[in-house]
Amino acid sequence: MTLPVKLTGEMGAFRRDPLGMLERCAKEHGDLARIRFGLNRAVILSHPALVEEVLVTRNQSFRKNPATRRLGTLIGRGLLSSDGEAWRRQRRLTQPAFHRSRVNAMGEAIVDYAQRQLATWQQGETHDVHREMMELTLQIACKTLFGAEVAADMRVVREATRVVGEHFLSRLRSLLFLLPDWVPTPGNVRFARAVHQLDALIYRFIRERSEDRGDLLSMLLASDMSPTEVRDEVMTFFLAGHETTALALTWALYLLALHPSAREKLEQEAHAVLGGRAPTVEDVASMAYTRAVVDEALRMYPPAYLQGRQALLDLTVGGQPIQKGTTLLMSQWLIHHDARFYEAPWEFRPERWLDGSLARQLPRFAYFPFGGGQRQCIGNAFAQLEATLILACIAQRPRLALAPDQRIELQALITLRPKYGMRMTAA
Ligand code: HEM
Repeated sequence: MTLPVKLTGEMGAFRRDPLGMLERCAKEHGDLARIRFGLNRAVILSHPALVEEVLVTRNQSFRKNPATRRLGTLIGRGLLSSDGEAWRRQRRLTQPAFHRSRVNAMGEAIVDYAQRQLATWQQGETHDVHREMMELTLQIACKTLFGAEVAADMRVVREATRVVGEHFLSRLRSLLFLLPDWVPTPGNVRFARAVHQLDALIYRFIRERSEDRGDLLSMLLASDMSPTEVRDEVMTFFLAGHETTALALTWALYLLALHPSAREKLEQEAHAVLGGRAPTVEDVASMAYTRAVVDEALRMYPPAYLQGRQALLDLTVGGQPIQKGTTLLMSQWLIHHDARFYEAPWEFRPERWLDGSLARQLPRFAYFPFGGGQRQCIGNAFAQLEATLILACIAQRPRLALAPDQRIELQALITLRPKYGMRMTAA
């Protein structure tokens, strides 16, 4: 590891090009790169051993970083943005909803919704698969977690989530970040209206619930949480529970469109295992190649490409002093493309995951699309099952080719999105 170097003012570079800024800092300043991020001190950690120190070994010495806590204006103090004892209580309460047996029980709904959506794609038609995957995973999350149907609400949800996303983006990208949300700027007014629309939907889920269905919403309602706490939790899962999985699928479809031989192997596996019938949870164990495509897409285009923590006290990481208040940034994007851990890191090679030997020999945090330690993604198993089953359904449908005029550019916001969507034509 090289010596840390002091830099200043990377906020501007981050706003313009987050991935480029991360790559440059790691290249120029090594595994522990000290930067100035606006008024704050920050450190970019780009070695798995350092990530492990923060997320596992010394996790008690950190809390979520200010940018994540800022999301609290939307998701309140739900599981993703809370810390300490409040977080522990929420995690204990929600964890049973993601027990392996409960997740497996979601398989049927996942395949059902996927088949219905895919049936609307006619040969020769062009669809924005990013948008389609967002709508599909949102419907699945609402059904499996809250027992709610949202197909008729898609237009409102699409518009409100777009406004909310743009609000956080524009705040991250300007000094408005320093202004509270209640100052009635035009952007804040639009944001408040969008939150109100999403709230209306979430309170409908809560109102419509009468009996205990054993799902996440039932667990929340049966707890001693206040109505606001339940709302915060439902909003957290509503947002965290669909976009990342949709992105994993979108990037997998992009990679498959660029690599026809991988698409062929995917089809062969679907044919051999399913022979034309719909996939089930039991099939997933036999679909090693399909799972490897998901794993490799999550490596190359990690939907959560950056995680942050804030030091609660003076301490050391990698033997280097870190001052209280410093933000520690850990990037899946950087580590997943590091040639120290991956041969040909920029190449799409699902095969690398097939025999399990790479996964066994990698350092623990060389691959961490779902984070790790106590705060590892609670929806990890759900997301992997969902992505694998949906991909198995897609493998049985006509091939998808990238629309000829489709521009591909990464947009690294909170998640890693295709900036201009992902229009594809069913051949
Ligand atoms: C491919 C899909 C997904 C990816 C890549 C992903 C990624 C992540 C990552 C990296 C974290 C850790 C953040 C941190 O420690 O700072 C996280 C946390 C979380 N994820 Fe996911 N996620 C995915 C799907 C899901 C799904 C389907 C759900 C819900 C059903 C979900 C709900 C959450 C929640 C609530 C947390 C906060 C957990 C806690 O702090 O205890 N995620 N996710």
